Amino acid sequence: MHGSSNEADPPLSQATLDGAGLAEPAPVTDYRVRPATAADADAICRIYNQGIEDRVATLETELRTPEERRRWLANRSPRHPVVVAEATEPRFVGGHGGGETEPGRTFVKPPTESSGLAAPATMVGWGSLNVFNPREAYRFVADFSIYVERAWRGRGVGRAMLEALIELARTHGFHKLVLSAFPFNAVGGALYEKLGFRTVGVYREQGLLDGKWVDTIIMEKLL
Ligand SMILES: CC(C)(COP(=O)(O)OP(=O)(O)OC[C@H]1O[C@@H](n2cnc3c(N)ncnc32)[C@H](O)[C@@H]1OP(=O)(O)O)[C@@H](O)C(=O)NCCC(=O)NCCS
Repeated sequence: MHGSSNEADPPLSQATLDGAGLAEPAPVTDYRVRPATAADADAICRIYNQGIEDRVATLETELRTPEERRRWLANRSPRHPVVVAEATEPRFVGGHGGGETEPGRTFVKPPTESSGLAAPATMVGWGSLNVFNPREAYRFVADFSIYVERAWRGRGVGRAMLEALIELARTHGFHKLVLSAFPFNAVGGALYEKLGFRTVGVYREQGLLDGKWVDTIIMEKLL
């Protein structure tokens, strides 16, 4: 069971796609958000390339390779970490005495070797805190990235990761998170608004993507 004991480990987030309040047992998938390691480069690469190909997330058009993502991971500063979300095996709660974990948001330790938390898990997304601007005065502002595996979108993974990134940003002393998104990214927009981001404005025709001008929305959240 995760969500338990070792308080020496730093807490990160877990969200629950839940069946709270259901009379009958319902399948529940927990998401565990933990720091990325070099071993995650392949999955991060695959999920990032899905986001690039889908043309809903980014003005980036150049597909990545696992090796490039390994180098990218290796060059992160501690203040600009990468996290990954893992989905654990579905379990059943409610109805007959419930599960060991209350559905809903809880804090858990990351799956360290000593914690015994390396339960069966599927990597379903990644996120990162990024340098917004290298000028010294901007050091309290971070940009972020967040990408969920296609088949797992709309199932709470994005919320779990963004909550973890907000928490990490506060821990690292950032004052603000900012992002830029496409106006037609409905799920992303819903997620950001739900987690307290406000729209700063819209850059008109900010990028030329596949021969078409696209606008980008700028959003921010003071931490
Ligand atoms: C955008 C993205 C990160 C969101 O993550 P996600 O796991 O799909 O989103 P979640 O399931 O956590 O949903 C977040 C919120 O949006 C809402 N939502 C989900 N699907 C929605 C839809 N189709 N339309 C409107 N709102 C929707 C949910 O209700 C949820 O709010 P809740 O937690 O209060 O219920 C993910 O879809 C993704 O990776 N997309 C491709 C890459 C991308 O766009 N990255 C962001 C670049 S700016």
